[in-house]
Amino acid sequence: MKELQLGPTMLVLTQGDITRVAADAIVNAANSGLLGGGGVDGAIHRAGGPAILQECRTILASQGRLPPGRAVATTAGRLPARFVIHTVGPIWQGGTRGEPDVLAGAYRSSLELARGLALTTVAFPSISTGAYGYPVDQAARVALRTVARFLSERPLPVQRVTFVLHDEHTLDAYTRAMENLAAAHEDL
Ligand code: APR
Repeated sequence: MKELQLGPTMLVLTQGDITRVAADAIVNAANSGLLGGGGVDGAIHRAGGPAILQECRTILASQGRLPPGRAVATTAGRLPARFVIHTVGPIWQGGTRGEPDVLAGAYRSSLELARGLALTTVAFPSISTGAYGYPVDQAARVALRTVARFLSERPLPVQRVTFVLHDEHTLDAYTRAMENLAAAHEDL
């Protein structure tokens, strides 16, 4: 299962490179320092060019470091998206340090920003499941439930939320999580 209709919003799973996605906003799995890194963060800064880093520096100077679970928006520079929403997921420490709540916060804060900007299409990577080590099956469950809950509580101008998953293993994990979510949908 790769698509789930949630009220007016379609939740979609796809495999690919998020830097090539022409959504209103793509979400970056950043770190609190906001100055780039490896993984999807590195790919976004490389493909988007220096305008993104420049805005990140301005945000850092005015707000300080971005705490895990929060999000900020910048230009998308040369990317086909209009905005990049930078959020910070939790570093996996075994699952007893509030990681699920922080991960849910990263998705919620990103959607709140998208809502404030009246965006209709948003694309997420699999936050925290690369360098930050969050087990992908557990992260997929948190990600999809959080987005589904958010959309059911606050109907959005958002019409499409896409998870752009880089590898097949991650896509499979999200596909299983979506099937479980669809089965339990009435319990949301
Ligand atoms: N498009 C989509 N997904 C991607 C891309 C891409 N171009 N490149 C990598 N990914 C995937 C990874 O395969 C993984 O499934 O994004 C997921 C998240 O991995 P990371 O980018 O490592 O993010 P995270 O685990 O949240 O770690 C964040 O990594 O690079 C640093 O600055 C970043 O310190 C921060 C940390």
